[in-house]
Amino acid sequence: MSTVNIKIDGKEFAVKEGEFILNAARANDVFIPAICYLTRCSPTLACRICLVEADGKQVYACNAKVKDGMEITVDTPNILEERRAIMEVYDVNHPLQCGVCDKSGECELQNYTLELGVDSQSYMIPDTKRETKNWSSVLHYDAGLCIVCERCVTVCKDMIGDAAITTTKRGGEVLSKDYKNTMPKDAYSMWNKLQKSVIAPSNGTESTDCSDCGECAAVCPVGALVSRDFQYTSNAWDLKRIPAVSAHSSDGFQVYYEVKPTSIEDRSEKIFRVTNEWNYVSLDGAARFAYDFENRDVSRDKVAFKNAVEALKKAKTIRFNSVITNEEALMLQTLKEKMGVKLYNPEVRAFQKFLGYYQKASGNRFYTTDTDTLMKKSDFVISLGAALRNDSPGLKYAFNNVQKLNKGAGLYFHTISDKLISSFGKNVDSFIHKVGLEEAALYLVLDLFVDKDKLPEDVKEYIASFKSSKTKTIKEKVMKSVTETVTDEESGEEKEVTKKVPEMVEKEITVEVNGLVDLLGGDSEKFEDAFAKMMKKKESFSMMIGEDFYYHEKAENLAKLIALVEELSGIDVVMTPPKSNALGVALICDLDDNAEGYTVGYNENGDFKLSALGDGDLDMPAMNQQEGTLTNMSKRVVPTNAALEYGGYELNDLISVLIDGKKETINWTIELPTDKGYEAIQFDDLKNGYDNNGVENRGYLLKTLKSEVEQPSVEKFDESLALEGEVVYRCNPARQFSDFTDKAHEIFEPFGLYASSAKAKELGEKVEIVFENASITVDVIVDDKMEGNITKLSDFKSAKDIYSLFGESRYKTVTMRKV
Ligand code: SF4
Ligand code: SF4
Ligand code: FES
Repeated sequence: MSTVNIKIDGKEFAVKEGEFILNAARANDVFIPAICYLTRCSPTLACRICLVEADGKQVYACNAKVKDGMEITVDTPNILEERRAIMEVYDVNHPLQCGVCDKSGECELQNYTLELGVDSQSYMIPDTKRETKNWSSVLHYDAGLCIVCERCVTVCKDMIGDAAITTTKRGGEVLSKDYKNTMPKDAYSMWNKLQKSVIAPSNGTESTDCSDCGECAAVCPVGALVSRDFQYTSNAWDLKRIPAVSAHSSDGFQVYYEVKPTSIEDRSEKIFRVTNEWNYVSLDGAARFAYDFENRDVSRDKVAFKNAVEALKKAKTIRFNSVITNEEALMLQTLKEKMGVKLYNPEVRAFQKFLGYYQKASGNRFYTTDTDTLMKKSDFVISLGAALRNDSPGLKYAFNNVQKLNKGAGLYFHTISDKLISSFGKNVDSFIHKVGLEEAALYLVLDLFVDKDKLPEDVKEYIASFKSSKTKTIKEKVMKSVTETVTDEESGEEKEVTKKVPEMVEKEITVEVNGLVDLLGGDSEKFEDAFAKMMKKKESFSMMIGEDFYYHEKAENLAKLIALVEELSGIDVVMTPPKSNALGVALICDLDDNAEGYTVGYNENGDFKLSALGDGDLDMPAMNQQEGTLTNMSKRVVPTNAALEYGGYELNDLISVLIDGKKETINWTIELPTDKGYEAIQFDDLKNGYDNNGVENRGYLLKTLKSEVEQPSVEKFDESLALEGEVVYRCNPARQFSDFTDKAHEIFEPFGLYASSAKAKELGEKVEIVFENASITVDVIVDDKMEGNITKLSDFKSAKDIYSLFGESRYKTVTMRKV
């Protein structure tokens, strides 16, 4: 990273080259007022309060970049006058309802009004009625409180990618012309815009129809956008913040559970909401709204505990999923080592095997990048094998953010077309291919991004075998000379005149055909030019790999192809662990391929069930009642804390009886396997936060390792293996990951078969899906962002045992019967 030297108010700082003044100041703990700007998003210049003087000129700190030797003054008399006027304008007609407003106590309007010393009002205008609206099951918008800073619009577009809200006409009173000449210029412009706008769903309806991530409400500086569920339930200052990790997707987002006693009568604590460090991390709907999945009112049931000990003693298999801490995973692994029990976790096993293939082929202990680095660095991103909108919120945000902030481009390879992904930018091209052609996609990546001279001879020849040329007849406009005889009107003489006239002629041309592009659903004739445009000025490339690859019949070959792409092109790779702590489980546990005999299920079905869902033979604490660590997609070991009390037994209690266990669960943290990249650090020594410049210092990063390996030799693919017919895909709706997400009350998406509108019409309301080994009857649900014939069957309810229906694949050909 190159740095430049600047001075702020006379003090020297070395700051990142190309950084906005505001971010450079924040990184060095210098305060510049700013309302509309969001780190990781593009500046909107809506508030204008970040005015500073740089080298003698007034600039907006959120939009002006640092230059070497720049001298910045944060406060000049003129700037202070502008800022004060801006704050006065924001306060004009702002409803005086702080006493009941959800934002009171953490409101930026309150804070800046005080900070900038606004104690009188110089401006006025008649107010106009502004409606309050419920935009979705989670969002409430009060236009009367809205200061039109556009943060909500910006985060939804630049970070989340849904672009579900926009500014729209308000019809407010027009400002008196006198103000234009008498008040500070920036304050006038800001006010003028404020009077004209409010925020509304961008689809022109009353509903956002979005992914309900709640980021818009999180970034709202005032009480204009709030969660409907939280509204009027608590003052901000009554809540205690517990730093934790979201239990749902494998992003392992940092969250704060905000708790206080349930009511005057019931003093047990309850989670009232989830908040986040929204400047540095964006949550998805599950992380933000699916928080109340705790196992409440549990006490120590000694009989059930004794039965659980006996069950574990005779167990041949323990079946579990990825909603488990690293420490618990280590306990189960220890149980396996000491008692010979099988560990069965089909959710993680395929991913674990895939990681192993990749490690062998690449010599890398882990994939080489993560979402945060990708967003900061990449300007070209390729996604393969992931239903990006459903599988991984973090990767979806990164794919979008690269388009919006880094002037990026993207290739999306999948079997199901997704209108949302295509809308992320004009340089996004989607390849919607047949199931089974994932290897072909990687061969195309090799073709497009690797210098031909570097390719192994057999791969080069194989790729060349897809290239051909063909002749094609096109119509072309040519200017043709036409000679006409004309008579001069005056003299009557005839003479010949030649002129040029346009004519369409047919012409044969030779065009290059890239069979791989066509095979993958593209159009090679158009693609070449489009790709050349996408590649302009691109320097940093990343590739996202999703769950489809782990369950692929040719998973090993896919892993080798990835390793080859990485080695020969320098493209960085990130993989999506399927859910929650899948990476931790994959690293810590030696998983088995099948279950046998008497089975103890941990949050899964079994002959004896340990459950944090309140439906088992022995209760266990849920993730929001536990201390411990998780290993997230970014290869970071992150600490989570118990937000709520739990009165029952924990896994550690069972392990202590069965083998020589530890006193507390967190005593296992220091024992996490160092040969897998973990560090011998005590739980209490793990940090949990972000620096002012956005550097994450939660827990620690796993230690990477690179060994020398031979270049992998890759196999050709077999086109005839592509699945045809009625194909079903195991895939959750975007806000559901597990039984825990489903249990939470605030956010709901049904279990069922998700289909494009056209397909849903064909299927009717309910279908029986017949697999090779069994069948299931489910409701058909329209997902209007999907296109095509493949349908998505949810797997988030463990009781439905969808993994058994799909076996070792993520796609199955089935028969559908209308019910
Ligand atoms: S709703 Fe909130 S974030 Fe959105 S423009 Fe209004 S004040 Fe800003
Ligand atoms: S909830 Fe998320 S997706 Fe929906 S409008 Fe807000 S930011 Fe956009
Ligand atoms: S923060 Fe710079 S214009 Fe709003």
